[in-house]
Amino acid sequence: MRKAAVITLISFLVLLFQFCADKDSAIPTTNGTSLSLPSNTLNYLVSYPTHVQNALTATDNTPANNQITNDGATLGRVLFYDTQLSANNTISCGSCHQQNKNFDDLIPLSKGFEGGLTDRKSMPLMNVRFYRNGRMFWDERSRTLEAQVLQPIQNHVEMGLTLAQLESKVKALDYYPALFLKAFGNTTIDSVKISRALSQFVRSIVTYQSKYDKVKQGTEAFSNAEAIGEQLFLNAGAPNTCASCHTPPMFITSDPARGFALQDINDAGINNQNRFKSPSLRNISTRTNLFHNGSIANLQAMLTSGAPGSGTGPIPLHAVAPQDIQNMLAFLNTLTDQTILTEEKFSNPFK
Ligand code: HEC
Ligand code: HEC
Repeated sequence: MRKAAVITLISFLVLLFQFCADKDSAIPTTNGTSLSLPSNTLNYLVSYPTHVQNALTATDNTPANNQITNDGATLGRVLFYDTQLSANNTISCGSCHQQNKNFDDLIPLSKGFEGGLTDRKSMPLMNVRFYRNGRMFWDERSRTLEAQVLQPIQNHVEMGLTLAQLESKVKALDYYPALFLKAFGNTTIDSVKISRALSQFVRSIVTYQSKYDKVKQGTEAFSNAEAIGEQLFLNAGAPNTCASCHTPPMFITSDPARGFALQDINDAGINNQNRFKSPSLRNISTRTNLFHNGSIANLQAMLTSGAPGSGTGPIPLHAVAPQDIQNMLAFLNTLTDQTILTEEKFSNPFK
């Protein structure tokens, strides 16, 4: 009797295993797409030009236990673009942080997995690691990038999973064990490793191939207008210069000279103190719907918003004198790095 029960149980388990195995191989990738990774691992361990490397040394928020490796960032890339990380398999990180849109979506508020809107503007995920205090989001509510990357997955509007659901969904996909093995030395899948891999990928997104960078390396020169624009950025309106809050060469700092917020009756930002984080201004002239609520159409609209450094107008400190606008625009245009928008290692591997 007992023996029969054991045999029945074993055959049941064998059948269950076959069923699951079949099911896995029938859904090797998301939504009928196929995952394609090159046989040679792509290189995320770039040696940056000196001016960028110096800024990195001074401001890098990479924790000692999560240094970037090529296999870690590769796993992060797959997770970043995998729509299985959302409740109904429709949305990935890459939906709101699109490579060809500066890892942003260039609209005021973003749509989550069921069409609901986010509370704030999406942020461009470039040069995120150059923020010394390591805090993430417009209001800095997340202490680290490692903590931040699990938030959208659990957010009810954005991706809508629990961490337990996340882990079981990732475990059920047959392309992940090999990627976790390469990245972390074993095939155990958990949310800590998912967070580390996503963070490695996000930290690897660094712009260093703009005209600005070539000028700083001495291989190109600014035009007259660009050079005047740079001086305005560094010196106009002292002590509240643009540079005092958007520090070159990455045009970001977690230690601005003073706080600032675009007036917004619905949102007071960091600790409700009427101040916000500003993302890196690199690639800014190719972005639209600026500031935490996406309400400023573009750079031109911002620069023409009031009297320079006067603290008046809708965006005090952000307006420049009419005769300076073209020069400021010319300078900010040199911060654009086009390579980042198409480089394979940052692109969607699901085709
Ligand atoms: C539905 C759109 C949406 C999705 C999906 C999404 N994000 Fe975001 N992301 C946003 C918005 C909106 C913000 C700003 C929210 C805030 O500050 O309150 C943001 C902010 C961030 C930031 C902060 C950047 C900074 O400079 O402080 C990081 C990092 C980030 N997202 C990474 C990710 C990762 C990784 C995923 C996938 C696991 C993801 N996002 C999925 C919309 C999205
Ligand atoms: C006192 C600090 C401060 C000064 C001075 C300052 N900014 Fe800002 N800037 C910020 C903060 C903080 C934000 C984000 C505020 C928000 O979203 O409410 C911001 C936002 C921006 C944005 C939009 C960024 C984005 O990703 O949406 C641009 C562009 C910008 N600033 C350019 C400039 C320029 C050009 C100057 C000089 C004319 C300047 N800023 C002066 C602090 C400052």
